[in-house]
Amino acid sequence: MKSVVIPMNLGADSYNITLERGGLRSAGTILNLRRKVMLVTDSGVPEKWVRLLKAQCGGAEVFSFPAGEKSKNLDTYAELLRRMMAFGMSRGDCVCAVGGGVVGDLAGFAAACYMRGVDFYNCPTTVLSQVDSSIGGKTAVDLDGIKNIVGAFYQPKAVLIDPEVLSTLPRRQVANGLAEAVKMALCFDAEEFARFENEDTDARMDGVIERALRIKKAVVEQDAKERGLRRALNFGHTLGHGIEAVLTGEQGLYHGECVALGMLPMCGESLRPRVEKVLEKTGLPTRCEAEVSRVIAAAAHDKKADGDAVIAIRVETPGTFTEQKMTPEELSARYTAVFGEGRA
Ligand SMILES: NC(=O)c1ccc[n+]([C@@H]2O[C@H](COP(=O)([O-])OP(=O)(O)OC[C@H]3O[C@@H](n4cnc5c(N)ncnc54)[C@H](O)[C@@H]3O)[C@@H](O)[C@H]2O)c1
Ligand SMILES: [Zn+2]
Repeated sequence: MKSVVIPMNLGADSYNITLERGGLRSAGTILNLRRKVMLVTDSGVPEKWVRLLKAQCGGAEVFSFPAGEKSKNLDTYAELLRRMMAFGMSRGDCVCAVGGGVVGDLAGFAAACYMRGVDFYNCPTTVLSQVDSSIGGKTAVDLDGIKNIVGAFYQPKAVLIDPEVLSTLPRRQVANGLAEAVKMALCFDAEEFARFENEDTDARMDGVIERALRIKKAVVEQDAKERGLRRALNFGHTLGHGIEAVLTGEQGLYHGECVALGMLPMCGESLRPRVEKVLEKTGLPTRCEAEVSRVIAAAAHDKKADGDAVIAIRVETPGTFTEQKMTPEELSARYTAVFGEGRA
């Protein structure tokens, strides 16, 4: 694959996203690694990807923490900042994330705050982080069980996406990230949705990533701070977050799986079977056992609009969306119509 460079035009915060199969091997020519580099990763990221990057750094230290959302907290964040101090990093040095969204969010937040901001590079290694979390400049950690409650908008200096790293990613994690790509196609790109319906997604993975990047780029450029258009990226997330909150532990579903489910009640009647087919083909769930009242309670708590109503995104025709204020009763009716009352 040739290298695709997607410029993010955000004024003084502009940067390039480079999408290149095998690109990690030439990271040193794409990123400025001739300085102190704090490579941030987690225990689930295969070492070979970290080694590949480290070999191209002038001087690098690796900060690795236990994989999983539970590490995305202020303790890990403080530990990372202490390592940066001990490494003697100054304003001209940089932080480089090699991992999924958890690594990127945490490393980006540390980069935003250390000495009021040092350069941040992101080399995302999951589908979710390649199509979604590495672009947009949102960085954060969780606090007391509340996701992403402490964070900052902080744009990276560059993002390097190498689809090769997905060769080690478990199948379920691949599908998890694809849910966000399907979401973007449904809201913004009818042609891409048709490709999800008619073509082999694995065979065109680089194209899937590029398309999702271009959609998110356009949205983020127009709405960097999430005031308008960017809210469409919440399609599937209102009910999705509700489902995610209920189905924890044994029944735990990944975020993308919950978003996949959350989209179904928000699709028009005639579109829904088509979306179900795409989800099945992608390896995502289409049935949900979460009990309706608990889902709605969690969903309504999540994003309050006026009074008890929430703003939900609806898609009737691929490529277009509408925003609609919905009461908990309306949300509940939509959920039940697709999944029934649930029991979990
Ligand atoms: N900043 C944003 O705009 C934004 C958007 C969406 C999601 N997020 C955040 O992203 C996080 C989820 O990200 P995620 O889905 O990437 O999860 P993740 O970072 O937890 O990664 C999933 C698992 O895959 C492992 N892994 C990573 N790369 C691998 C590879 N190449 N091969 C094998 N295993 C690999 C990880 O170690 C981890 O165990 C959440 O914390 C969420 O809040 C942020
Ligand atoms: Zn999401």
